[in-house]
Formats: sequence, C-alpha cells, structure tokens
Amino acid sequence: MRLIGSSMATDRGLRRPTGRSLVAVCTRAVCLLIIAHVIPISGKQVLRWSDEFRTGCKAGDNLCVNGGINLRKWGFELGDGTSYGPDLVGWGNWQRQCHTNASENVRVEPFPSNPFDGMLVIQAGYHASGHACFNEKASTTTTNYTSARLTTRDKAAFRWRGNATKSTPLRIDIRAQVPLVMGTWPAAWMLPDPGNASCLGCGPYGNGWCLGGEIDIFEHTNADRFFISNAHFGGLANASWLECKDDVGKFRAQKADGWNVFSLLWDSKSISFSANGKVFSNISLGEWQTGGAPDNPYAPFDVDFYSIFDMAVGGLYPGFDIDNAAVGAGAARFAIDYIRVYDIV
Ligand SMILES: *[C@@H]1O[C@H](CO)[C@@H](O)[C@H](O)[C@H]1NC(C)=O
Ligand SMILES: *[C@@H]1O[C@H](CO)[C@@H](O)[C@H](O)[C@H]1NC(C)=O
Ligand SMILES: *[C@@H]1O[C@H](CO)[C@@H](O)[C@H](O)[C@H]1NC(C)=O
Ligand SMILES: *[C@@H]1O[C@H](CO)[C@@H](O)[C@H](O)[C@H]1NC(C)=O
Ligand SMILES: *[C@@H]1O[C@H](CO)[C@@H](O)[C@H](O)[C@H]1NC(C)=O
Ligand SMILES: *[C@@H]1O[C@H](CO)[C@@H](O)[C@H](O)[C@H]1NC(C)=O
Repeated sequence: MRLIGSSMATDRGLRRPTGRSLVAVCTRAVCLLIIAHVIPISGKQVLRWSDEFRTGCKAGDNLCVNGGINLRKWGFELGDGTSYGPDLVGWGNWQRQCHTNASENVRVEPFPSNPFDGMLVIQAGYHASGHACFNEKASTTTTNYTSARLTTRDKAAFRWRGNATKSTPLRIDIRAQVPLVMGTWPAAWMLPDPGNASCLGCGPYGNGWCLGGEIDIFEHTNADRFFISNAHFGGLANASWLECKDDVGKFRAQKADGWNVFSLLWDSKSISFSANGKVFSNISLGEWQTGGAPDNPYAPFDVDFYSIFDMAVGGLYPGFDIDNAAVGAGAARFAIDYIRVYDIV
C-alpha cells in the first residue's frame, strides 16, 4: 500500500515467471523431488508468532474485543488519517474511508462451515448521509465510508534472524479472501518499526516515507483478478518523498475472491513474494537502497517491520469509482483466516 505519493506504480507484470520445474524440497531429514511450483526453501519452519483468529473471548479478558481480536497482538489505527498529520488526510493517498474499531467494520467471526474456526473480517460500510469520523488526535470529520486498519505496531515486529552477512529467512504466510467490489483496496503490508507513533512514515532510516521502506505482501483493488506485491524504497535524505522506487510483482489468481495463501520469504539478501506456494516476484540485494543510509546495501530491509491489515475505500490506487450499493450491502469484506510468522532454521 503506497503510503504517500501520487505517482502510480509501474506495473511490470509477472517479473520472473517460474516454469513448471523439478524442485528439491528438503525438510530436516529428507529431500523430496517434486514437479511443482514451490517456494525454494530448505530448512525447518519454526513458528515465531501467529494469530489464527479464533472466535470468542475468555470471560473477563478486556484485551479481547469484537468477537476475538487480541489487543495484545493488534492495535487499531482510527480515523481518516488526520491524527497522523495534516498531510495524511486520506492516509496519504486520498482514501475516502474513516477507520473505526466498531464490530460492524472489524471483528472475528466463525466460518459458516466450521464455527470453531474463526477469521478476521474487515468490512467496509457506506453512509449516504455521512458518518461522524472520530480522530484520536484531531477534530471529528465526516466521511461516507467506514472500514478498519489493524497493526502490530509497538506489539510485534519482524525480520530475518542472524546478521546482514549471514542470515536465516523469515517467512510469513497469510490466508485471505478479498472482495470483488469497485473502490475497495484491501492489503496486507509492513512498515518499519520502531516507528514514531505520531508519524506513519518514520523509521530508523529517517522521518518520512519512503526512506524506511515498505513491504506489501499483497494488495488487491476493485474487481481485479490479480493481486500485486511490492517493495518500496529509496528517498533522498533531504527530501524523503523524492526518488522513491518500487518493485511490483503481479499474481493472477484462479479465483481472486476465493481463499489464497500469500507468503513472504525475506532474508538479508532477498525478498520473495509467493501465492499458493508459487513465487511470483523476487527482489535481491543490490536492487534496493535508501537515501537514509546510502552506504548500507542491506538498508532499509535490515530492520524490524510491523504488520498491517487494512481495507481502503477509494484512493489513488483503486481510483474513485466506488460501488456504493455493494459496499452498503456488506459485500466489501476482507477476510483473513490466519497470519503465521516462521523462522526458517
Ligand atoms: C475504540 O476506540 C475508542 C477511542 O479510542 C475507545 O474508547 C474504545 O474503547 C475502542 N473500542 C475497542 C473495541 O477497541
Ligand atoms: C456523503 O455524505 C454527505 C453528508 O456528509 C452527503 O451530503 C453526500 O451526498 C454523501 N455522498 C455520497 C457520494 O453519498
Ligand atoms: C554473522 O554471523 C555469523 C554466523 O553466526 C558469524 O560467523 C559472523 O562473524 C557474523 N558477522 C558479523 C559481521 O557479525
Ligand atoms: C515523529 O514524527 C513527527 C511528525 O512527523 C516529527 O515532528 C517528530 O520529530 C518525530 N519524532 C522523532 C523522535 O523522530
Ligand atoms: C537533495 O540533495 C540532492 C543531492 O544529494 C540534491 O540534488 C537535491 O536538489 C536536494 N533536494 C532538495 C529538495 O533539497
Ligand atoms: C531470489 O533471488 C535470489 C537471487 O537471484 C536467489 O538467491 C533466491 O533464492 C531467490 N529467492 C526465491 C524465493 O526465489
């Protein structure tokens, strides 16, 4: 999710298409040769952090809200962006929604087929006569749309283990389902941490997007059949928003509004994006940099990043052709079955 900036991403389509190939998949004990598109990792996955979004809260647990959202793991970012600075009205790119923490917009709900299994649902709403938008550190505004944005900021942040010269990968798997509704922009993405609670684009490599980098595990817009991944980086030390670059990958889904599993595989020297086990984009050391540390080739992707799930309504990337009837009818639902963060050791 591009945080700030008006230039549209250049969509280079499928970057290194992987053909059907003979791949060795190694677990600790054995290597299996299989004909498939698989993420080429060797090593054992050790779960570091996860949320399965189970339904229900224990009696008396006031850090569990909206049917099962655990506030030890997640926090809400509320409002239309104005809490984060006058430049961030519309969250930096003209998004039209107000983010709330109301259960109409964000909750854990059971799978119809298995009530013991839960999913996080972010559901946008349409308000034809306007909705009073609460901003934590700024005045109330009026919007026509509501939605939600959950982050692990100040609670959990991740990167590969080891040091820059010798690292073992981090892997994040997210199983999700997006709506095919004009104007919607769901995303699973990451920003650097420790950030600056009053500044969305701040990080260890400087204050202001894009110096600190951004990793977009997947984004989807409108009724598109494809998803994109992205790595944002660059920036000038004296003008963070200049010379921002990105590296877009594209995944064409069999069924975009079905369940798809997206994975990030990230070590100090490469970042790859996959869907349903198949790598569709990969960026390597030497292809990224930041104006915040021009002499460090590993920067900005050598610090911890926190996770974000959100769904915008309107904005520079999806555009402003919004299907109010579908949003109003509750069809703008972004569901996440789980997020699992592993070390590959
Ligand atoms: C929602 O945010 C408001 C304002 O910060 C807060 O008072 C309320 O407790 C929050 N509710 C939930 C469910 O987090
Ligand atoms: C949005 O809400 C305002 C009230 O604040 C209303 O006048 C306007 O017609 C609404 N816009 C749309 C597109 O529904
Ligand atoms: C990086 O880690 C490896 C393996 O633990 C170690 O051998 C090496 O000295 C470390 N390099 C630096 C610069 O710390
Ligand atoms: C945090 O961000 C705000 C807004 O951009 C900025 O004014 C402030 O200097 C930043 N604080 C730190 C410690 O970097
Ligand atoms: C920032 O510095 C670069 C050289 O490092 C210079 O070319 C550019 O004009 C400067 N930009 C601003 C906005 O000061
Ligand atoms: C990404 O590319 C780098 C360099 O070409 C390679 O070493 C790495 O294995 C690739 N990763 C994946 C997951 O394809």
